[in-house]
Amino acid sequence: MPATVLVVDDERNIQLTLSRALSMEGYAVETASGGREALEKLAALPVDVVVMDVRMPDLDGLAVLQKARETRPELPVVIMSGHGSIDTVRSAFKLGAFDYLEKPITEKEKLLVAVKNALALESLRAENAALRRAAGQLEMIGGGAAMQRLFDLVRRTAPSEGRVLITGENGTGKELVARAIHEQSRRRDRPFVKLNCAAVPAELIESELFGHERGAFTGAVAARRGRFEQADGGTLFLDEVGDMPAAMQAKVLRVLQEGELERVGGQQTLRCDVRVVAATNKDLQAEVAAGRFREDLYYRLNVVPIHTPALREHKEDVPELAARFLGEACERNGRRAMRLGREAIAALQTHDWPGNVRELRNLVERLAILCDGPEIGADDVVAMLPGARRPRGDRLRAGAAFHELVEEAEREIVLAALEAHQDSVSDTARALGLERSHLYKKMRALGIKRGAE
Ligand SMILES: Nc1ncnc2c1ncn2[C@@H]1O[C@H](COP(=O)(O)OP(=O)(O)OP(=O)(O)O)[C@@H](O)[C@H]1O
Ligand SMILES: [Mg+2]
Repeated sequence: MPATVLVVDDERNIQLTLSRALSMEGYAVETASGGREALEKLAALPVDVVVMDVRMPDLDGLAVLQKARETRPELPVVIMSGHGSIDTVRSAFKLGAFDYLEKPITEKEKLLVAVKNALALESLRAENAALRRAAGQLEMIGGGAAMQRLFDLVRRTAPSEGRVLITGENGTGKELVARAIHEQSRRRDRPFVKLNCAAVPAELIESELFGHERGAFTGAVAARRGRFEQADGGTLFLDEVGDMPAAMQAKVLRVLQEGELERVGGQQTLRCDVRVVAATNKDLQAEVAAGRFREDLYYRLNVVPIHTPALREHKEDVPELAARFLGEACERNGRRAMRLGREAIAALQTHDWPGNVRELRNLVERLAILCDGPEIGADDVVAMLPGARRPRGDRLRAGAAFHELVEEAEREIVLAALEAHQDSVSDTARALGLERSHLYKKMRALGIKRGAE
């Protein structure tokens, strides 16, 4: 299908000349004689590029551009102006115009090149967006208050140039947050480069960070750009930063301080413009106190701290997360669509998720593969997730025997109390106001084996 160009000009003969030139190149051409008509056509037709005069009687080109941004933020617009007013041109670019042509347009070649470039950019953008969607990675889920606070912080932080330190347990979405910050920043069209600080062999640290020249050391058969150079203009994600070896800490600190680096074996000093986002599941302040992490580096990295909450702190998001993962898992494994029953979801919410969202995602994938039938029930969940329980409400409705329910409640109470007292039976008995021997008997009856003297 040919790309569609919308030509907007109030002068009929200019409209015709431009349309003819574009049609001859094989484009589908639409025309509008004023700003209002242009907006109507934009709303109605699948326009790929706009070529538009600035001066028009009803609504000028800048106003149209601004309006169009609201519904089609990515639409490339080429502005034409005969008045050479530098202010107009500047305003147009500020509003996100793609290119500018001076009237009269005597060489149609210039017009064609501008349109072709605009289309190339647009298709690159579309491709990028599609890739991101396909990776299914970037969209974070979480309608609950804790996640909304996180998203809000990300939204406010991303457009700045501030360094960010993301902390949180395993599987809580630290990498997703790092990518979201990049995607919402001005650097989004430049690279996002990830470096796992815990996994760089000691002898390769420098070359990994700064690159090397050919022949710099044995095995350096070709020159190579380091991570900082690869990320130039973009974002460098230092993952597992709490596990960065001391030698590497010193080198990273130097680049952050000076914004300069040299490749291994290189003579030249290279400037690099990189925004660093770091993440760790360690308590970095404690690492500093223990002398394992440099304090000066810590302060340089921790300009904006962002914490990703553990899943047990926002269980209200479990239903939405589980539903999304189930949909993806069914599709990935070529299974017919399934759903989680209400009791199954309640059972998922009884679990504490030490592995956080990653653990939930893996469990749901297992359920999608192993369960039959369109609806996953609480029993399926309990069978595959040790530690999860059927919700009591469900069993009450199902008419479970009184003694079973009491027993279940007793088990819950005893287990929680044991946990609170580090498995000491004496302390637990005292806390519950029971004789120690009585508690022992109870534990035996309930099949609870833990407990230290
Ligand atoms: N809010 C969320 N919405 C959707 N998916 C999520 C969310 N949080 C985490 N995930 C998914 O959970 C998995 C783990 O996320 P991620 O790798 O970002 O965690 P992490 O904190 O970097 O973990 P680790 O410390 O183990 O590296 C990924 O598959 C990610 O897509
Ligand atoms: Mg991670």
